[in-house]
Amino acid sequence: MKVLLVGNGAREHIIAEQIARSAELYAIMSKKNPGIAELAQKFYLTNITNPEAVGLWAIKEDIDIAFVSPDVVLAAGVSDALENADIPIASPIKAAARIEWDKSYARSLMKKYAIKGSPNFEIVKTRKDALRVIKDLGQVAIKPIGLTGGKGVMVSGDHFGDIKDTMDYVCELLKKDKQVLIEEKIIGEEFSLQLFSDGKRISLMPPVQDHKRAYEFDLGPNTGGMGSYSTGKLLPFMCNDDLEKGRQISQAVIDALRKEDVEFKGVLYTQLMCTQDGVKLIEFNARFGDPEAINVLSLIKTQFVDILQSIVDENLSQVSFSEKPSVVKYLVPVGYPNKSIPDSEISIDKKKMWDSGAKYYYASVYENNGKIYTTNSRAVAVVGVNNSLENAEEKAEEAARCVHGPLWHRKDIGTYSLVQKRIENMGRLRA
Ligand code: AMP
Ligand code: GLY
Repeated sequence: MKVLLVGNGAREHIIAEQIARSAELYAIMSKKNPGIAELAQKFYLTNITNPEAVGLWAIKEDIDIAFVSPDVVLAAGVSDALENADIPIASPIKAAARIEWDKSYARSLMKKYAIKGSPNFEIVKTRKDALRVIKDLGQVAIKPIGLTGGKGVMVSGDHFGDIKDTMDYVCELLKKDKQVLIEEKIIGEEFSLQLFSDGKRISLMPPVQDHKRAYEFDLGPNTGGMGSYSTGKLLPFMCNDDLEKGRQISQAVIDALRKEDVEFKGVLYTQLMCTQDGVKLIEFNARFGDPEAINVLSLIKTQFVDILQSIVDENLSQVSFSEKPSVVKYLVPVGYPNKSIPDSEISIDKKKMWDSGAKYYYASVYENNGKIYTTNSRAVAVVGVNNSLENAEEKAEEAARCVHGPLWHRKDIGTYSLVQKRIENMGRLRA
């Protein structure tokens, strides 16, 4: 079976590994990911957001089933091009991925179908309205309407000191996008709930907690994600009802889309927050999280290609995972996220990595004369899976020591003290 994967990050590297377990991998990448290239039967370098280029190559290679992974590629309509070329596709078409690339659509859909869990919000088009909403809501989150690689959201108290700072950012976005989403700031602990959907049924993956802030103690700017952990079951600060509410919101949005004549097939990632008023929705993504994909795909027991086939055939059944803790850490270039120093050589001691039992996945790196170099983005993800969170974290740290070069990572992710802080925070809020 020939399976096409579109994308070239660390998330796609682990997807590639899953596909290659039971099928021939055909990969389309914008930059050569050395890990994916090694696993692929054949690969093609092109602009992956060009639907025509992807579609033509898929036809030429006689692809049996395709999986389109990154948000920008889904938003560009690459799944649609593959579908139009009669290639079975297990990823959302552009109209379904709109749930991610148009934040106002996601919020309006929730309102229309009375899906619970939305914070108070308003989409504004003028400075006057923005000021009124900000005064009305008090503490707010300001969100660009479109895709920003996880870096566009700014929050009162964290990024804005006062109304002037907030309005400066609002004006910047209004100038660019002509509209901006203003939400009530919600407080609590976040979790990522990823799930497979065949357009009707869903199958949940274990919840994961990502760490978006660049620096330890959750300080600094938002990033694409610095690392994540999962216990394989509930996260330590969650209760059963939080997961159930997350499941209900996710199923409700799949049902709402169907009522709008849009079938959501592929991976949905519902980003949620446990708050003192129950579970709230931060946003929907029409894809795996990165790094969260690495947690869940390290634990998946069902053959990935069989899941893709069942999405296409609309007969998805429950996917199984080992209930083991996992910790992912992203190694990023010096200066990341705002002043990254690119083009630095890095190397991995593969023998030592193998001996540690941990694994690594290449993210945004490039190869030149057999050597690996950094870009401005996250470079390598390492993952430790073990019988306890503490041991998984130690394993991830051991793996990080096997990667050499001018890189840094958050040492606190998955540690006892940080997880304990999260449990205490949630305890205080629930009390
Ligand atoms: P997003 O790009 O929507 O995933 O948002 C990035 C980060 O901003 C989230 O992970 C949250 O930490 C924060 N955030 C987004 N929306 C809100 C909100 N309404 N209240 C508080 N924080 C938020
Ligand atoms: N880890 C956050 C994201 O993939 O959007």
